[in-house]
Amino acid sequence: MGISLGLVGLGMFGGAFADMFMSHPNVDRIALCDREVDRMDVFANKDIWQNKFNRKDMYESLDDILQTDLDAIVLITQPWLHAEQAVKTMEAGKHVYSAVPIVSIPDGDEILDWCDKVVETSRRTGLRYMLGETSYYRANAMFCRRKAADGLFGNFVYAEGEYFHDVDHPYCNLRGVAESRMASKAGQEWLEYKKKYDQRGILTGPMHYPTHSTCGPVSVMNAHAKKVTCYGYKNQTNDPFSSDVSFSNETALFEMSNGATIRILEFRECGGHIGNEEETFRIVGTKGTYTDNKWMCNFRDAAPEDVAARKALAQRYENQSLTDEDMRDPLPEEVAKAFGEACAHQRDAEGDFTPTGHGGSHPYLVHEFVDAIVNNRQPAINAWEACRYMAMGVMAHKSALKDGERLDVPDWGDAPE
Ligand SMILES: NC(=O)c1ccc[n+]([C@@H]2O[C@H](COP(=O)([O-])OP(=O)(O)OC[C@H]3O[C@@H](n4cnc5c(N)ncnc54)[C@H](O)[C@@H]3O)[C@@H](O)[C@H]2O)c1
Repeated sequence: MGISLGLVGLGMFGGAFADMFMSHPNVDRIALCDREVDRMDVFANKDIWQNKFNRKDMYESLDDILQTDLDAIVLITQPWLHAEQAVKTMEAGKHVYSAVPIVSIPDGDEILDWCDKVVETSRRTGLRYMLGETSYYRANAMFCRRKAADGLFGNFVYAEGEYFHDVDHPYCNLRGVAESRMASKAGQEWLEYKKKYDQRGILTGPMHYPTHSTCGPVSVMNAHAKKVTCYGYKNQTNDPFSSDVSFSNETALFEMSNGATIRILEFRECGGHIGNEEETFRIVGTKGTYTDNKWMCNFRDAAPEDVAARKALAQRYENQSLTDEDMRDPLPEEVAKAFGEACAHQRDAEGDFTPTGHGGSHPYLVHEFVDAIVNNRQPAINAWEACRYMAMGVMAHKSALKDGERLDVPDWGDAPE
């Protein structure tokens, strides 16, 4: 038997996931919830929804949908609401999926308190929390986690993770995104609520939205950050968009629990980007290295004193250029089929399902959450893992505010079974 779930937040991003959550073969019943009622109608009226959806399952607030007997809730609401809503959802006895990040608010100490609460609530209730981090299911991250599981990186030495998203990005303009998020009732309330931070002179920074850049290296290395040093770049053109932030760009260096070093960039004021992609990572190990769709590996299996074997390495050296299709994990056939039937824009010319959305990550996120709940297991990006990505950003921003002071990064340990 499948599960029942409710989608809360059908705005710009939530709408992109609705058909997939509805059509997953292990979802039997789906409900909709948004304070902006018209945002639900787009889905409520679709023919393909009618087998799993009943108009009685339309709710105008999170509080209302939490009164139901649904098994799980998917929160794709504005980023300052996530943590409080996730905790409330688990307290109401439901598993929860949250859009990234755990929470984004100006006060880093408050964010860390929310990390504590999310972990504590998931541990105490036994309910599952999953962070919907898209970069976790980019093809390069899936590929590198497989190589790491096979031991082919050797020991990790260094990694770089980066998210270049200029405020005037030609395809996703951040001024427009902010305007659209403020347009709803929830957005208007935030403008009022945010004044309490303004009065205290607390300014946020791009490292308070760090999960796209931190999750790749951290999930591949399966390590956590111990120390950080970070520097910020301040806007120099009096751009009103930057009036709310201490820095428009932040650059951090982390010392990791496995002895490696990670360099993270979160940039919002940058003409273009370094490397092939705006959002990516590179990892160097003692045996293998991944960078920009390339995998290099010398199979250094022999002991260092075995000079002859080491000299023969050249014959076993691998240097591959890869496409996303080469690197992706397969989705279960019946899941891909169901998604393909529900989402016309995800079919290729032959009608086969092709993952799209933030590097093809969307269908994997949906499947991972549903599958984790059905099989009563921790999702890959559980509360403990999600806190690792978030705490790195919080402490990096604090370091930048203290002119690069070296700071400890908290960790909540590994998730229980
Ligand atoms: N790559 C990524 O992972 C990625 C990309 C884009 C957006 N996001 C995340 O997705 C989230 C949503 O972004 P968006 O652009 O769709 O925002 P949006 O403002 O367009 O939509 C949010 C919706 O949530 C609804 N909502 C808020 N509180 C509610 C409540 N209590 N009950 C019912 N409905 C409620 C609002 O009415 C609104 O319709 C953000 O948190 C953002 O960080 C992630």
